[in-house]
Amino acid sequence: MTDKIAIIGFGNIAKAIITPLLDKKIIKPENIYCVVNSEKSFINIKKNYKHNINVYSSSSKDSTIIWDCQYKILSVKPQHFKDIVEAGNIKNKDNLLVSILAGVSINRLTQKFPNHKCVRAVTNIPITIGKGLTGIAWGGGITKDQKEFTKKLFENSSKVYEFTEDYLDIFLALTSSGPAIVALIIEALSDGGLSGGLPKILSEELVMEMILGTISVLKEKKLTTSELKNLVTSPGGTTISALRVLEKKSLRSALIESVVSASNRSKEFR
Ligand SMILES: NC(=O)c1ccc[n+]([C@@H]2O[C@H](COP(=O)([O-])OP(=O)(O)OC[C@H]3O[C@@H](n4cnc5c(N)ncnc54)[C@H](OP(=O)(O)O)[C@@H]3O)[C@@H](O)[C@H]2O)c1
Repeated sequence: MTDKIAIIGFGNIAKAIITPLLDKKIIKPENIYCVVNSEKSFINIKKNYKHNINVYSSSSKDSTIIWDCQYKILSVKPQHFKDIVEAGNIKNKDNLLVSILAGVSINRLTQKFPNHKCVRAVTNIPITIGKGLTGIAWGGGITKDQKEFTKKLFENSSKVYEFTEDYLDIFLALTSSGPAIVALIIEALSDGGLSGGLPKILSEELVMEMILGTISVLKEKKLTTSELKNLVTSPGGTTISALRVLEKKSLRSALIESVVSASNRSKEFR
């Protein structure tokens, strides 16, 4: 990747996308031009970021240089979307803008950045440790090279899936909201251990190891979830007793509805 890349908002997620590419020398630090909002973040990146990239604060006049880059990643919080204004003397008409903002549609992106072809990417928090899931929806007129560029951006830190935009809401609900849902389940199961007299830390560790082990068994033995459930549920035993309580309390329905609700909320943001 030899082109200049602008990054508007260099926070947690943008760093997670770009740092592995810099670490692996897939892109050169001198080709990265990022802009952040506060003087504090500007100084912090200048002093502490391990790669010597170009960085500007949004109040600096020089920051408009980022609009000269052919490729841009937009990674501010959705509430700051309104503050970003396409600027500069954009001559090249083959500009690409990749937005990772939750809930901002390709239509809104294209209206705001008329000199750019726009791509919407939805990613999730495990991208910060290179284990993310990223869903990509293409706007109109994107070239093959621009698709390749976008996929390469994410492939070093996540598994990449291509969708039509309609599917991004449910993808976001499952994968971006999913970590919070799973964290809540871990917390609740740990509290179950606590109720039975285990120390909190041990209980949480046991739950996490159990979940990791369960996923490994499912994958390595190629079992379906029903097959695994049947394998550990003996007649009149402890597991069926636990599952009965969950069915009575409608856990299944609660989880299904939580995903549908997150997806509907994402649609409202568009
Ligand atoms: N966190 C997640 O789990 C997650 C997962 C998937 C997708 N996302 C999406 O990723 C995006 C970024 O999230 P994040 O967690 O990386 O946020 P973050 O760490 O708060 O980073 C946001 C960045 O935007 C900068 N910024 C704010 N206003 C700006 C402006 N007017 N001009 C230029 N830069 C500006 C901030 O600068 P300052 O530091 O100076 O304020 C900061 O560098 C969000 O839209 C979110 O929807 C987040």
